[in-house]
Amino acid sequence: MSLERILAAVGALRRRLRSRARTLVVIALFFTSAWLAGALAGWLAAAGALMMAMVAAGRGTTDADDEPARSVSAEHGRSPSSKGQQREADSWRLLLDAVPDAVVALDHNFNIMHFNARLEELFPKARIGQPLSQLSRHPELNAAVDAAVTASQRIVVDLYERVPVERRISASISRIGGREIRRGVPFLIVSFRDLTEQDKLAQMRADFIANASHELRTPLASLRGFVETLQGPARDDPEARDRFLAIMSSQANRMTRLIDDLLSLSRAEMRVHLPPRGIVDLNDVASYVAQALDPVAAASKARIVVTKSEEPVRIRGDRDEIVQVIQNLVHNAIKYGREGGNVEIAVSRVLDGSPPQPRALVAVADDGPGIAPEHLPRLTERFYRAGQGGREKSGTGLGLAIVKHIVLRHRGEFRITSTLGKGSTFSVLFDELSPAGA
Ligand SMILES: Nc1ncnc2c1ncn2[C@@H]1O[C@H](COP(=O)(O)OP(=O)(O)OP(=O)(O)O)[C@@H](O)[C@H]1O
Ligand SMILES: [Mg+2]
Repeated sequence: MSLERILAAVGALRRRLRSRARTLVVIALFFTSAWLAGALAGWLAAAGALMMAMVAAGRGTTDADDEPARSVSAEHGRSPSSKGQQREADSWRLLLDAVPDAVVALDHNFNIMHFNARLEELFPKARIGQPLSQLSRHPELNAAVDAAVTASQRIVVDLYERVPVERRISASISRIGGREIRRGVPFLIVSFRDLTEQDKLAQMRADFIANASHELRTPLASLRGFVETLQGPARDDPEARDRFLAIMSSQANRMTRLIDDLLSLSRAEMRVHLPPRGIVDLNDVASYVAQALDPVAAASKARIVVTKSEEPVRIRGDRDEIVQVIQNLVHNAIKYGREGGNVEIAVSRVLDGSPPQPRALVAVADDGPGIAPEHLPRLTERFYRAGQGGREKSGTGLGLAIVKHIVLRHRGEFRITSTLGKGSTFSVLFDELSPAGA
């Protein structure tokens, strides 16, 4: 017998005697009083006490009986007594580590025996041996864990948190095995899934549909109103009819623009994972957009200035989409810039990033009233309008969302800088196509 096994056996005997201490004291007291009262001879009392003690110490050999509840959890399944138990403990730990959700294993005192890396992301303060109630103070979770002890099925509960950030976590609690307590084996498994992101996406989708239908409902309601007026009171009023028809035409145009924007956005979103195949010269696109929007600029008494790079600046891209990006930016610069102001489209090659890489840059700058800093991070959200500084405010708030998605598809970068009272610059950066790639 190796020293290790002898020590293990002595340890087991010590634990067993400790757990039977009260019984042994009672036996000793009984036989001592019998001897003192003269009911038993000394040798008989000693032999009786010894026999009873041996029977008591040997009774019940299950682990659960051997150990008071606390000491099972105090071991946290770390030192299973046999190699078989060790292998079993290793396997369930590996299994929990492989689960993609955040998972924690609890002993029957609800103390933590093991947790995987995902759980640490969700609860950075998790520690082996600590009670579950310290991991999360949600009364719902603790009540669900209590209920899981006797439940025949797993229990799922939603936990809402407000601080430090708002989030919704779904916790699912399952008891493994029966109600029997086995040392080194978890009693309950609790898995957590953070549903915050999923909720946010669902909310965004709902907002998007609500916004899109609202944007369409307003001009439609106005069109219906004019039709009724033209059919009724204004039937024989040629002057009112002309005025109303002009407004109706502008409302119809607005609806067409909105539908076009929605289609562009959905196309850009759908193709965001498909890398573009064509080759686009940004100098060429800048001149094209300046020409196309010249009448719009003239109507606002604005001037479009194009500053091209001396060399062609080529990127891998979809020409129509790049035209749409620059067009949306220039249109905004005219719309929200200064009346009679300047809009500059500058194409250049720059060294950007770390390590610095040659990149293609198109910057659209205006000298308008600028945008307040609190709006900047939200400008690319669908339907977001900063609502200031513009003369014509007929936009739908989709233009920059489309820009963002197209730039994303081109693996480019979109940057916005603005100074109140001075103007704004919207820049897009793309990887420049090397001559070999052309
Ligand atoms: N050059 C700019 N100067 C000042 N504000 C701007 C400028 N460009 C955009 N904005 C602000 O950003 C908001 C969002 O612009 P975006 O192009 O997405 O929508 P829009 O122009 O309102 O509508 P759409 O482009 O769909 O017709 C605008 O409503 C405007 O408040
Ligand atoms: Mg716009």
